[in-house]
Amino acid sequence: MTENPKRYTVTAALPYANGPVHIGHLAGVYLPADIYVRYLRLQNRDVKFICGSDEHGVPITIRAKKEGITPQQVVDKYHKLIKESFENFNISFDIYDRTSSKIHAETAGGFFKKLYEDGKFIEQTTQQYYDEKAQQFLADRYIVGTCPKCGNENAYGDQCEACGTSLNATDLINPKSTLSGAVPVMRETKHWYLPLNEYEPWLREWIVEGHKGDWKPNVYGQCKSWIDQGLQPRAVTRDLDWGVPVPVAGAEGKVLYVWFDAPIGYISATKALTDDWEKYWKDEETKLVHFIGKDNIVFHCIIFPSMLKAHGDYILPDNVPANEFLNLEGDKISTSRNWAVWLHEYLEEFPGKADVLRYVLAANAPETKDNDFTWKDYQARNNNELLAILGNFINRAVVLTQKYYDGAVPARSELTDYDKTVLEDLQGIPLVISTYIERYRFRDALAELMNLARLGNKYLADTEPWKLIKTDAERVKTIMNIALQISGSLAILMEPFLPESAAKLRTMLNMALGNSWSAAGAADLLKEGHVIGKPELLFEKVEDAAVDAQVQKLLDTKKANEAANAVVEPAKEDITFEDFTKMDVRIGTIIEAEKVAKTKKLLKLKIDTGIDQRTVVSGIAEFFKPEEIVGQQVSILVNLAPREIKGITSQGMILMAENADGSLAFVQPSKEIKNGGTVS
Ligand code: 2FM
Ligand code: ZN
Repeated sequence: MTENPKRYTVTAALPYANGPVHIGHLAGVYLPADIYVRYLRLQNRDVKFICGSDEHGVPITIRAKKEGITPQQVVDKYHKLIKESFENFNISFDIYDRTSSKIHAETAGGFFKKLYEDGKFIEQTTQQYYDEKAQQFLADRYIVGTCPKCGNENAYGDQCEACGTSLNATDLINPKSTLSGAVPVMRETKHWYLPLNEYEPWLREWIVEGHKGDWKPNVYGQCKSWIDQGLQPRAVTRDLDWGVPVPVAGAEGKVLYVWFDAPIGYISATKALTDDWEKYWKDEETKLVHFIGKDNIVFHCIIFPSMLKAHGDYILPDNVPANEFLNLEGDKISTSRNWAVWLHEYLEEFPGKADVLRYVLAANAPETKDNDFTWKDYQARNNNELLAILGNFINRAVVLTQKYYDGAVPARSELTDYDKTVLEDLQGIPLVISTYIERYRFRDALAELMNLARLGNKYLADTEPWKLIKTDAERVKTIMNIALQISGSLAILMEPFLPESAAKLRTMLNMALGNSWSAAGAADLLKEGHVIGKPELLFEKVEDAAVDAQVQKLLDTKKANEAANAVVEPAKEDITFEDFTKMDVRIGTIIEAEKVAKTKKLLKLKIDTGIDQRTVVSGIAEFFKPEEIVGQQVSILVNLAPREIKGITSQGMILMAENADGSLAFVQPSKEIKNGGTVS
């Protein structure tokens, strides 16, 4: 593909509409895609940016069952939430569509039909697990059983989550249907397969020979290893009642496999966007780029291209710049463990700070290896980079221009060598940034952008116009003019990364919206006499308390997960009824409570047991404040022999219920009982 294709079709992986999106999604797929597209638009290139919700597949039907709603309700809920999150982070799709749309069913169904009619599939009848009670074939995820590797009794038909082994449903020992609990039986079913093995020589030529050194090493390496291992025919239909119906006779009750229909979703969305859609998919002069995460590589580099090739009318992706994964505070991001920073929650907690997260995620994007997001790094990058470098430079330039010249850009006079070097550096930077962006190296591109802000900061710090104004006002005009040219270029160059801040800066500098990438770097971007607007702060400090609260939220999640996973203690040995009746447990009321001096855990309680008022020392101080428990009823073992604790005689024991995380609760009557009432 030439460096200057006629147009671009840029796709971002369609997220499954069965949960909200988190920072891993943003860092891995949507942010790099958005940076790329915004840059192309600034270059006045013809580009369509396509995305939408992936609304089919077994996980959606499972979630629907779990929540007791229909799959349609699941996808309606999450499609809306995901779409809003993307809008709030200014991910500038030309369309955010959905695969439950009519146009998609027609497009995906039509695609299948053409391949079917052209004889591109093989039909095969196989034996598959069937649930006679629920009267349906079982997707692998609907079967649980014992893992043959590690003995975990709750392994799924496709994977054992305890030991990570990939499984086939037939590998499971004692398989059971999760739909009805029935033991599944084998039944014959017919499916259509795309014979990927036939595409192997072509794939080898196209990828292994054709994209060496051009595709990212992680993408190329994964593809090569798939091809080297030998490809197998792959079923593109499923026995399921949620999906695009297979549009051929004899396929009643079957739907397209989600990974067959989802990528066609890119095409349907383009159709929904424009009547002109064909040139974005069928013209060789269009550059097609898929942004995805690394778990999607095989589908976008091997399976979808084989489908496109089999069809014959479509172009192939020019590049698939897949990213690695982002971890969170040293641990893998996980939806089921709620170990994530959810985009919709972030914006509630950090309103107006979409750009800050965009910046942190782009600066630390997992482009070549898995990376870690930490809240401390978030704070440091905001305070030490966005605020201290970029924000500080812009603020100085704008404030001083207002102060000295009422906002009018002053004229430059004779240039020093330093001025000339700075202007040369400024002129060179747009090309450096664009070269990085065109090679999908967004971190490096962002680093160069920040270097331009650093250059501006250093220039002002070195030349000190605020001091010079008293002795050489003429020289200050030149300095401020140069600082303003840098500011203007920053407003253009930062737009792909920080669109909200770029818009603010454009307003501050009173810059025309039409300024495109090619204007950046110019020594006269802001003409002499041009009047700029009022200063406004671009970024604000992130305080310790804000990030500490986020870290605490994660610690709470970890604790909750540990508690949820904790094993319940097995029952103790049997005792006789007589053993039980030896215990005299009564209901009493706490009438006094105080901390036991020099201890962390102990409270000294006075209890009205109905029999007497007595002192009990109890190890509950970490969970209860003395003043909050006075007046509460408790269960107390009154015939426990008195014990000396920290010099206090404790007469009895309060009964407590304990959670897996160690937290405690009183064992209390469900309605008030007269003190002294027995518990049996
Ligand atoms: O991994 C995922 O989230 C998939 N829903 C991506 C689909 S991308 C495309 F093919 F639609
Ligand atoms: Zn296992």
